[in-house]
Amino acid sequence: MQKIMVLNAKGGCGKTTISTNLAACYASRGYYPALLDYDNQGSASNWLNIRPEHVAPIHGIEAHRQKLTVTRSWQMRMPPKVDRVIIDTPAAANNQELTNYVRQSDIILIPVLPSPIDIHATTDFIKEILVIGKMRSDTFRGIGAANGTRIGVVANRVKENTKVYNTLQTFLASIKIPFITGFRDSQYYVHAFVEGVGIHELRDTRTQYLRQQWQPLLDWIDDTGNLGDDSSIGIDPTILG
Ligand SMILES: Nc1ncnc2c1ncn2[C@@H]1O[C@H](COP(=O)(O)OP(=O)(O)O)[C@@H](O)[C@H]1O
Ligand SMILES: [Mg+2]
Repeated sequence: MQKIMVLNAKGGCGKTTISTNLAACYASRGYYPALLDYDNQGSASNWLNIRPEHVAPIHGIEAHRQKLTVTRSWQMRMPPKVDRVIIDTPAAANNQELTNYVRQSDIILIPVLPSPIDIHATTDFIKEILVIGKMRSDTFRGIGAANGTRIGVVANRVKENTKVYNTLQTFLASIKIPFITGFRDSQYYVHAFVEGVGIHELRDTRTQYLRQQWQPLLDWIDDTGNLGDDSSIGIDPTILG
């Protein structure tokens, strides 16, 4: 069971949009995903609550809210049928919270917006995550999963002819973290969200190109990779300077 966490200290970069769409994508393909919502604002949980009856179910866990009537472990329990876990996280997290997040994920997906400020902040954030990974264990590979936690970056709200990612791509290449795909800036994401669905649950051909942009991500997630895989975060920490 893969645990995929969508993480970035920057608010508004698309964590909730990508979490909900990824969960909906898996649900529409016959998986039984769980969506964990660590954000106090509860946007992902609200989206789950308005999901229409005709779409496939997603198991929701409001991880941000401590229910008083049940124990934490009962609240966080995973039904046995769950085969994918998507974790939506809040923008600001302290070091301890970040460490906890990183610990429980197999895959960390970092969305970044095409603006120089966001790209700069994301570069710093990735360095922070790598340091946290190091702190957690003697080896980066030790964190999270047997295979090691993998980090990947996705561009979000991409407009045509966006060339602002050069510096980020150079940085990512230098530390061997993959830049996986880009999602277009589209009102269909906004419309789908308010209907409680994901763009993979819109069947019309006009939105086909949006769905296609997800394929590289789905492939990368499924490519559990070898330990020697470039996309592993088992990198040389000295690169962080
Ligand atoms: N690809 C996209 N196209 C258009 N709007 C988007 C896209 N991704 C996110 N948004 C919008 O941007 C805003 C912030 O996205 P959100 O997923 O809530 O970010 P975060 O969870 O990181 O704070 C929301 O209003 C959302 O609808
Ligand atoms: Mg959010």
